[in-house]
Amino acid sequence: MTDQDLPPQPEEQDGTKPFGRKQFLQMAAATASLPVLAATTGAAAGTSNEAAGAAPAEQPRPKSLEPTPACDDGDDPTPPQTEGPYFRRNSPERASLLEPGMNGTVLTVSGQVFAARSCRPIANALLDFWQCDTRGVYDNWGYRLRGHQFTNANGEFQLTTIWPGLYTGRTRHIHVKVQAPYQRVLTSQLYFPGEPGNWRDPIFDPRLVMDVSNGPGGTRVAAFDFVLNVPY
Ligand SMILES: [Fe+2]
Repeated sequence: MTDQDLPPQPEEQDGTKPFGRKQFLQMAAATASLPVLAATTGAAAGTSNEAAGAAPAEQPRPKSLEPTPACDDGDDPTPPQTEGPYFRRNSPERASLLEPGMNGTVLTVSGQVFAARSCRPIANALLDFWQCDTRGVYDNWGYRLRGHQFTNANGEFQLTTIWPGLYTGRTRHIHVKVQAPYQRVLTSQLYFPGEPGNWRDPIFDPRLVMDVSNGPGGTRVAAFDFVLNVPY
């Protein structure tokens, strides 16, 4: 299959996504910096082979969006995905995975964690991220590019990392585990729009594609909200 044969990605057809309750609540919620809380949990690791840190495509950011305040506007729970072979427990608690000497385009991923039933943001939700480096290699012995954090009182999180590379058989992605306090863990993955490999990757799910745009100083900025199936 050539790139020309690839079906269009929903996010790319008109540059906008449906405006759901999450975005509405996101606008209503005051932006606040993230407190770093204490806790446990971790990520896992593995190695991979080749990779290509292809230059990320610029994605237009939606200019005007219609608010949809209804709670039943179709925001289904974030779909689960395979954990893969490279998860490591006990990742360090940190919102930034950047380390001295680390190569790659800086990427900031921001969003909120919501309860599917009540539409309310979930405070103190755990987010554990892990990803490969620009060469497509996971750190399976240490915790490079692994870290967990907790949402603030508005259910917000912000991850600072690098644009992940590629490895054989997979499109570009970031692994994540999300857990509301005392609830089940959601294991999933986040994807990037406009990646040629998206539709060649059998694990890829377009519902997990982030909104990605250019950030200051050559960085990239991504947004994604998680919706958890919790009993409240
Ligand atoms: Fe992976």
